[in-house]
Amino acid sequence: MNLDKLLRKKPLEAYQDDIKTSQLTRTLGKWELTAIGVGAVIGGGIFVLTGVAANQYAGPALALSFVLAGMGCLFAAFCYAEFASILPVSGSAYAYSYGTIGEFFAWFIGWNLILEYMMGATTVAVSWSKYFVKLLHLSGVHNLPPWLLNDPITAREEALKLGMTPPAFSINLPAALIVWVVTYILVKGIKESAKTNNIIVALKVAAVLFVVVVGVSYINPANWQPFIPAKVVDSAGVSHYGLSGVLTAAGIVFFAFIGFDAVSTQSQEAVNPVKDIPFAIITSLIVCTALYILVSLTLTGMTHYTALDMGAPVASAFSAVGLNWASLLITIAAVIGLISVMLVMLLSQTRIFLNMAKDGLLPPKMFATIHPRFKTPWKSTILLGAIASLIAAVTPIEKATKMTSIGTLFAFAMICAAVLVLRKKQPNLHRPFKVKYLPLVAGLGLGFNILLMFSLDVSTWFRLLIWSVVGIAVYFLYSAKHSKLNK
Ligand code: ALA
Repeated sequence: MNLDKLLRKKPLEAYQDDIKTSQLTRTLGKWELTAIGVGAVIGGGIFVLTGVAANQYAGPALALSFVLAGMGCLFAAFCYAEFASILPVSGSAYAYSYGTIGEFFAWFIGWNLILEYMMGATTVAVSWSKYFVKLLHLSGVHNLPPWLLNDPITAREEALKLGMTPPAFSINLPAALIVWVVTYILVKGIKESAKTNNIIVALKVAAVLFVVVVGVSYINPANWQPFIPAKVVDSAGVSHYGLSGVLTAAGIVFFAFIGFDAVSTQSQEAVNPVKDIPFAIITSLIVCTALYILVSLTLTGMTHYTALDMGAPVASAFSAVGLNWASLLITIAAVIGLISVMLVMLLSQTRIFLNMAKDGLLPPKMFATIHPRFKTPWKSTILLGAIASLIAAVTPIEKATKMTSIGTLFAFAMICAAVLVLRKKQPNLHRPFKVKYLPLVAGLGLGFNILLMFSLDVSTWFRLLIWSVVGIAVYFLYSAKHSKLNK
């Protein structure tokens, strides 16, 4: 294989053809697109991961961690928006880089986006099961067998902690089942999905605002002192708090921002993609960052960070001040709200697969067949549902979260680099959305995202390496041979 083949680009006319022959219908306006962004973003990150991030690493400075993680995303978001305006097609960063940078790079970005979307949906399914179990508890259902509620590793750890014999078999059944519910909604069609999504997003934003509005009068400013607790190293050599703790927490809560770019996979279903996709990407990110900063200040103000619950921190902070009714409302909102994250993530994944299959890089019979009545890529949706459900049933949340984050950070860093390279190589390309001071913005995006990658542990890096090797192998064994550009 020569270098030219790796760098071959999909011609812009081919994109025009794709748009013309698209069987997807254009139904999404700019606010619906923004809702898709917010729907994908607010989820397990804020409802679950804030607990461990504040309690173990950042203390009250969790808000700072959100600012850091949000910055990395914001710079990447601007780059995404420029990319999206050049090629308003679905397929997100994969499609943009195929038309501009080259096939191999595009494949590699697409491969990492699988970690973002498919692993992301899986992680959220596992978070969802935690809130679902909490809801059952709050409703008086306590006697469920633990081996039906946990992956094998977590089940074993929990049993050993309680001094019991670990179960021989264990599965996270709620997580596996919720993925199938989402898969069913997606197979039925985008219109229903967008409508369902709008309702859920409204509920979720209401719940987050409720946390801030109701929680604010329970804030005790003494809980914010010291804002950045002094660094401590525990007996296992793990450091907590201090500036490095703030950075570690930023790596953890980065997960909370994942999804804003999902908007870009909806271009072919957008009424006016050139203007509305950049708008929706940036608006949803700014809205979510503001909400996250407010929620983290409220939580760490209501409860001392050392007392913040690590399972369901948002709901528990309200129980701790005696507002059990509020805790119940938040749990219900989380149970419903996390469904919209899974919806958008799996939806986005099928759209990226659809694009890759149309280009010949994935088998088209499986990934590009559109259902005659529902007009959705039903086969790939079901396949994806099956894989995500299986992984959700057996994977601990921590591993799934880190894998999602490292893949996404890597994809974001590559996108920042790609947009910069493209600006240098093709300065005269028509860019309806053009980032000002791009070298600075893309450089900072690259820097922040790589910095956050380094806050993740060695085993996560090792898994990323394996994932990349598999991706490269698939490319050379299948995709390069079947690429439509061969003709
Ligand atoms: N940002 C999404 C969440 O926090 C993935 O659940």
